[in-house]
Amino acid sequence: MPRDNILVKKSTSPLIGNIPIASDKSISHRSLIFSALANGKNIITNLLESEDVLNTAKALQKMGVIINKKDQGIYEVIGSGISGLMEPDDILDFGNSGTGARLLMGLVAPFKFKSFFTGDQSLRSRPMKRIFDPMSQIGANITARQGGLLPAVIEGTDEPMAIEYKMPKASAQIKGSILLAALNIAGKTTIIEPDICRDHTEIMMQYLGLDLEIKNLSGGGRKISYQGIQEFNAKDLLVPGDISSAAFFIVAALIIPGSKIELKNIGISKLRDGIIETLLEMGGAIEIINERKSCGELVVDIKVRYSALKGAEVPANRVARMIDEYPILAIAASHANGLTKMNNLSELKVKESNRLSAIYENLVRCGVEVKMGEDSLEIMGGLKNLETIPKITTYYDHRIAMSFYIMGLTMKNGVEIDDISAINTSFPGFINLLENI
Ligand code: S3P
Repeated sequence: MPRDNILVKKSTSPLIGNIPIASDKSISHRSLIFSALANGKNIITNLLESEDVLNTAKALQKMGVIINKKDQGIYEVIGSGISGLMEPDDILDFGNSGTGARLLMGLVAPFKFKSFFTGDQSLRSRPMKRIFDPMSQIGANITARQGGLLPAVIEGTDEPMAIEYKMPKASAQIKGSILLAALNIAGKTTIIEPDICRDHTEIMMQYLGLDLEIKNLSGGGRKISYQGIQEFNAKDLLVPGDISSAAFFIVAALIIPGSKIELKNIGISKLRDGIIETLLEMGGAIEIINERKSCGELVVDIKVRYSALKGAEVPANRVARMIDEYPILAIAASHANGLTKMNNLSELKVKESNRLSAIYENLVRCGVEVKMGEDSLEIMGGLKNLETIPKITTYYDHRIAMSFYIMGLTMKNGVEIDDISAINTSFPGFINLLENI
């Protein structure tokens, strides 16, 4: 794994102006996958050109899909139709991307060929049983490393079964993988999600004209049914900015005195706006304007001003709506007045790193008063002026690297980060962007 050590110095000036935010990673993966399955030629505009997304593109190309880069962020995909994928002629290496790997496991399950899945050290340690279980029920044959870890071989079936699957946890990756399999399954596939989680797959399917039945369940979840097999035609896609990437700049502007920024064209699904709600509760001056729809997704502009934040208790049931934002929320909490409590964080332990412990240990190094429980964090705000330079360990996790980069901008002597290379998995240009404003 490449290592890229960096010293981040305290910012001497506020963040001011319009900041172009990286395109949405979740929507970019799905744009490539659905374009590959459409009938006809599709243009995707504003695709995120990060390592994670490009690995999904490479995997699709290994299955015979033609993907041509036309310009920066603009890709032409020649769809093969839903049943046109071919056996990949090489190992599919998803690098750091759980989303890419898990979604494509669903995609290949109803094809009678073998696919070999692997990834980097982080991805090879992340749980895949959550996908193997439903795919086995559909009829795929899976051989994996002990504990349900990658590398794995998925041997699909040409007689896939329509299943009713109750997801053990609210996960858009599990839901997405089953819906992608369902595209090639005759009969009605039903997914029951215990809590509603991000619905980019459903939104894109509906935008492309596929018929989904979605019912809200009493108790908070949803039941999603899809009747295969429906063909669909190519339709151009425009990817909005990523609220998870925007969150780093939103928090940076809230905690760096004098800052005033605007972020345009940010996708802010109602299932991913937990960070905004929480930061508003903490007293953040955040304004959401120009709400509109683009390719079925809610898109907005966001204005943020430096604010005196106060601690808050984040409701446990908000976790699915802001799962990727806890690292940067922890930085906001360190600058708030009072205590911030976060619970129900067990999923953080199986992200690109064990984010629960990575947040904890790096905050301790920054002199923050923080307590970690089995699945919780309590952070006392009020940053101290350390005389030393805290050394941050990122565990090759992009969100830990970006969060503590922002932290460094506010610390008296900055911070030293062991490895920032993972930032390229989701937000290439993050550091240049910060240096230029
Ligand atoms: C994603 C779903 C989330 C999120 C990840 C992207 C997606 O994971 O953490 O960064 O695009 O489906 P889970 O579905 O495991 O919660």
